[in-house]
Formats: sequence, C-alpha cells, structure tokens
Amino acid sequence: MKPAPNPAVDLDVKPVDFPQDRTCPYHPPTGYDSLRAARPLSRVTLYDGRTAWLVSARDTARTLLSDPRLSSDRTKPGYPATAPRFLALRDRRAALLNVDDPEHHTQRRMLVPKFTLKRATALRPAIRRIVDERIDAMLAQGPPAELVSAFALPVPSTVICELLGVPYADHEFFEEQSRLLLRSRDPLEVRAARDRLDDYLGELIDRKLTGPPGDAVLDGLVHEQLRDGTLDRDGAVALATILLVAGHETTANMISLGTYTLLQHPERLAELRADPALWPAAVEELLRMLSIADGLLRQATEDIEVGATTIRAGEGVVFSTSVINRDDSAYSAPDTLDWHRPARHHVAFGFGIHQCLGQNLARAELEIALSALFERLPGLDFAIPAEEAPFKPGDTIQGMLELPVTW
Ligand code: HEM
Repeated sequence: MKPAPNPAVDLDVKPVDFPQDRTCPYHPPTGYDSLRAARPLSRVTLYDGRTAWLVSARDTARTLLSDPRLSSDRTKPGYPATAPRFLALRDRRAALLNVDDPEHHTQRRMLVPKFTLKRATALRPAIRRIVDERIDAMLAQGPPAELVSAFALPVPSTVICELLGVPYADHEFFEEQSRLLLRSRDPLEVRAARDRLDDYLGELIDRKLTGPPGDAVLDGLVHEQLRDGTLDRDGAVALATILLVAGHETTANMISLGTYTLLQHPERLAELRADPALWPAAVEELLRMLSIADGLLRQATEDIEVGATTIRAGEGVVFSTSVINRDDSAYSAPDTLDWHRPARHHVAFGFGIHQCLGQNLARAELEIALSALFERLPGLDFAIPAEEAPFKPGDTIQGMLELPVTW
C-alpha cells in the first residue's frame, strides 16, 4: 500500500466538477480519477460554479468527520450544495442530519435505543418474513420481473413502516414524495414534496397522540418525548420525516445495486453460494465498493489545518465516499470486490456524530434480502444486457433506476 501524499493543494489546477454521473454504476466516475490521485484534499467545482474542498483520504475523512469545527447546518450562508434542490431545503434544517451538537445530541439520544444492534437482531425474523413474501410474489408471477419495484424498494419500505408505525398502505404516496425530495431538479417541486410529507406525518402523529400507545418507534416518540415536552410537534414531524426517507431509499438502492454488482461477479457469487457464512463480510465489502451516499456536505466554522493546507472558516467541504472508500493507502486493490480483505473503517455510513443511525438495521436487511434472493432464485440473471440497465445520476443517492431480471 502506498503512503498517502500530503502536499499543499495546488490552487492553480482547475477544479474537477462534482458530482459527476458514474460511468459504471458500482465504480466512482472515471472523471474522479484525478481526485483519487490527489490525497488527502483537492478542490472541486459544484453545480452552481462555487468551489469547495473535496476530501479523498480515508483517515483524513474520519478525522474531519469527527471535527466539531465542521458544521452540518445547511441554513448557514455559503453552505455547499451539490444540486439545485438543496436550495429549496435551505430554509429549514432536517432533523439530526443538519443539526450540530448540542442540539443534535439531544435528538439522537432519543432514538439510539431504538436502533441498537440488539434491536436489529430482534427484527431479523420479521425482515425474513417480509423478504420471503416478496420473493413468493415474484415466483408466483413468474419471470421476468423488475427488481426495484418488485423487491428492492418494497422490502426496506415495509420494514421501516413496521418499525416506525407508518401504514404501508400509504407507500405509493411517501415513496413518490421521497423520490422528488432526493431526485427532482425543480426546487419548487422539492419543497412541495417536503411539505406534503410533513403534513402527512403531522396528521399521523396527531392520530397517535389520541390513540392507544403501540410499540412502534413513532408511538414511543409521541407518548414519551412529545407528552413530556422533550419534543414539540414540529420536532417530532422532522424526526419522523428523516427516519422514513432515510430508512427506505438508501437500503433500496443498496439492494438493487448490490444485486447488479453480484450478477457482474459470478465467481464471487459462487463463493457466497458455497459458503453463506461469508454474507456479512460480503455486505460490508459491497457497502465500501458501492458507496451509494456519495457526497456528504459540511462547512468549516473555523480555520482547519490539514497537513500543509488550511480549510478557511466559511468554506465548503465535500466527502466523496466513493473516492474515500477506494483510498489505496487504506485498502489494497480497492477497485476489486473482495470480502477476504477487512473492509472495516469505510465511510459508507459516514463517521462521527452523524454516522448512520440505521446502520445495524441496514446491515440486517441487506444480509437477509441479498442472501435470500440468490438462495431462492438460483438462476437469477439480467433480463436485458447489463449495460442497458438504467442507473441513477451522480447528484443523488446511487442505485439502479430499474433492474429487469429473470431466473
Ligand atoms: C445501506 C443503507 C444506508 C446507507 C448507505 C446510509 C448512509 C448514511 C450516511 C452516509 C449517513 C451520514 C450522512 C452525513 O454524515 O452527512 C447517514 C445518516 C443517517 N441515516 Fe443512514 N444509511 C442507510 C440506511 C439507513 C436506514 C435503514 C436508516 C433508518 C432509519 C437510516 C437513517 C439515518 C439517519 C437518521 C441519519 C442521520 C444521523 C445523524 O445525523 O445523527 N439510514 N446514513
């Protein structure tokens, strides 16, 4: 492994555009090659023409993501944006994700007990049931199937509904609003989608407040924190929104893109079939390789020295997880899918105070969904040439738009 170079960034070099569309759905765009070579920092140009720092070294990323001088508060002037839709959401901070400590800590503390490894382990039988129902339906309909709508999206969507206490019957509504929120290029449409989700979850919270307490996460928030005043209604709605959106879109993309990637690596798949005990390591390596949440945003509140370079107060900082997770001073042969290497310390779930709250749940869902899919559909394959399967553009969470499969 090569040692990470650490020279001062050459400010005369024209910054690379960020984000760019991937050329292969499971590799970083080839347009990021120079970013990968320039560790630990380089400059990028964002869609609005502004420049920001891009972090590319794994260890620097983990240090900076834990640094309280980097803020997540997108309402601050000059906060970096990687697409126009971020402007629409700038008027308000999303709970948890855009909140700095100490307020962040207060919000997170309410939820941590509901997302422990123990809780995720206890949910495994329910996840397996949901996964099996979807595979039963695919088998009953017969091949071919479109995997995103038949499996990758409904599995995490059903799981998060059961966990939060949101009626799955409303899934078409909230999946569409989430899609607009995360992908629309029209700022007005984005804000309208957020407002519709807020109204929907606000009404659900009001109904829960007057009804008998259930054991779902939102019931807990309503009957404990909302009643005792730790949380107000707007706060409860904001937490419900992020849990619902983050809880289904991300995992859905990992399932569709993970399936695509495994189908492109038949020799690796054969290994998993021969030894299913490898699945947890395979999921970890897929998280590293696919880095679907690619472009975490922060803003410096004070000057920060990084080697010979200074990030100035007010400047934007972008963490490209796909670049960071392919740092060849941290991972040997980083472009190769190999679960015999330790994929540990990747930043696919972020790092520091905002590290993914749902990571235990996501790992359980991915292990169960992917292993059951390949176990119960042993002949699973692409129904169209792999290179024709459409995938998502670079300015959103990465994944397949559609994945036609047969078996
Ligand atoms: C494989 C699937 C997933 C991936 C790759 C993923 C990725 C991430 C990343 C990278 C962050 C940090 C963002 C940042 O620092 O700016 C994050 C935060 C978060 N994720 Fe996930 N996530 C996944 C699944 C889930 C699930 C299932 C939930 C369920 C509720 C969830 C809830 C959250 C929440 C609430 C935060 C904000 C945490 C905070 O700011 O304290 N995620 N996720």
